[in-house]
Amino acid sequence: MTDENFRPGLEGVIAGETAVASVEQTSLAYRGYDIQDLAENSNFEDVAHLLIYGELPTSQQRSEFTALLAQFRPLPTELISALRMIPAGVPMMDVLRSMVSFAGHFDPVEGDGPDELRRRAVWLTSVCGSIVAARLRLLNNQEPVDPKPGLSHAGQILYQSLGEEPDETSTRLLDLTLILYAEHEFNASTFATRIVASTMSDLVSGIVTGISTLKGPLHGGANEAAMEMLVQFDSAEAAGAWIQDAFAKKQKVMGFGHRVYKNGDHRAHILEAELRKLAVQKNQQKWMDIYDAIKTPMVEQKKIMPNVDYPCGLTYYLLGLPIDMYTPLFVCSRVTGWSAHFIEQAENNRLIRPLSRYSGPAPRTVKS
Ligand SMILES: CC(C)(COP(=O)(O)OP(=O)(O)OC[C@H]1O[C@@H](n2cnc3c(N)ncnc32)[C@H](O)[C@@H]1OP(=O)(O)O)[C@@H](O)C(=O)NCCC(=O)NCCS
Repeated sequence: MTDENFRPGLEGVIAGETAVASVEQTSLAYRGYDIQDLAENSNFEDVAHLLIYGELPTSQQRSEFTALLAQFRPLPTELISALRMIPAGVPMMDVLRSMVSFAGHFDPVEGDGPDELRRRAVWLTSVCGSIVAARLRLLNNQEPVDPKPGLSHAGQILYQSLGEEPDETSTRLLDLTLILYAEHEFNASTFATRIVASTMSDLVSGIVTGISTLKGPLHGGANEAAMEMLVQFDSAEAAGAWIQDAFAKKQKVMGFGHRVYKNGDHRAHILEAELRKLAVQKNQQKWMDIYDAIKTPMVEQKKIMPNVDYPCGLTYYLLGLPIDMYTPLFVCSRVTGWSAHFIEQAENNRLIRPLSRYSGPAPRTVKS
């Protein structure tokens, strides 16, 4: 292999083709629909349908899709029993990884044809929300709650998590984050999922791989890490002093920077505008001041912009959700994008198997 092909981290490499999403410096689109348009004029169910089936649903397709989500939402008793056995201190991402794998043994969809694969993706989307909600209930020494007919997917996750019907603002904001998180082209977890598909393995294995990859703080784990950073501060002044110290120590600041976007993340702009309104509504300006005390020097002094995980962490915090749940909520959304990529890879497959540059010892022999 020649050195000009050597790209650590695959930076700048076009590693495949996709019709699911396009990520450009100035735009993000899911199957041709701009993210701003989707954020303003659709909901998570529509976006999930768009990703899994390729088109926004007609009204009849929307009814069928939401009915399918509803049908798959109740967890089998075996899953609840397994959840009860997991120690309380286990991070929710690890719980979700194990439970999705376990749920695979109770997969209600039979067959592996194109229709079954898409149906399985809908089942996984539904099941992830129910697992996260049930885990939260059990952690709080409460029993899992049955889904309530008529709620949206976001509303359902909140209802099953908190045990009471959520207000409109909370539902809309969770829905917005689910839209924004649903898909992002060849990011690390999606690429990992596509590798699983390329070996002709199964969709559940692909999603477990996606979860395992998303967990890291350089990827989806950043929404939790960003909020863990913010909760240390009781004032904007304290945050301002901390960030200067972080600069001096050349420390990474979670929720900032992106491999592709170098001038800002469209999703962060969209969510931040809503977060500012939420903070006013909840009388939580203090948190926006702390948020800005980190963001302003990052942007002005370092020229590093926030990514979607930065406003998302604080959004979930102001919705009263525990930090441990933030990356699992990312999964509840991204499971749709992973599934779309898995299906795309499986339907036009070539085994993903790159090369490496050898840097080990020169040839030697066992008997010298
Ligand atoms: C996402 C991320 C891994 C992208 O990294 P990348 O494309 O490899 O970018 P680089 O590491 O090459 O960054 C270029 C420069 O910006 C700095 N930088 C990038 N993100 C930074 C951050 N969050 N905080 C501080 N400095 C950062 C790097 O240290 C590097 O500086 P240097 O040239 O002096 O060494 C990186 O920005 C990061 O670690 N961010 C924090 C985690 C996060 O929010 N992840 C969610 C991504 S959606």
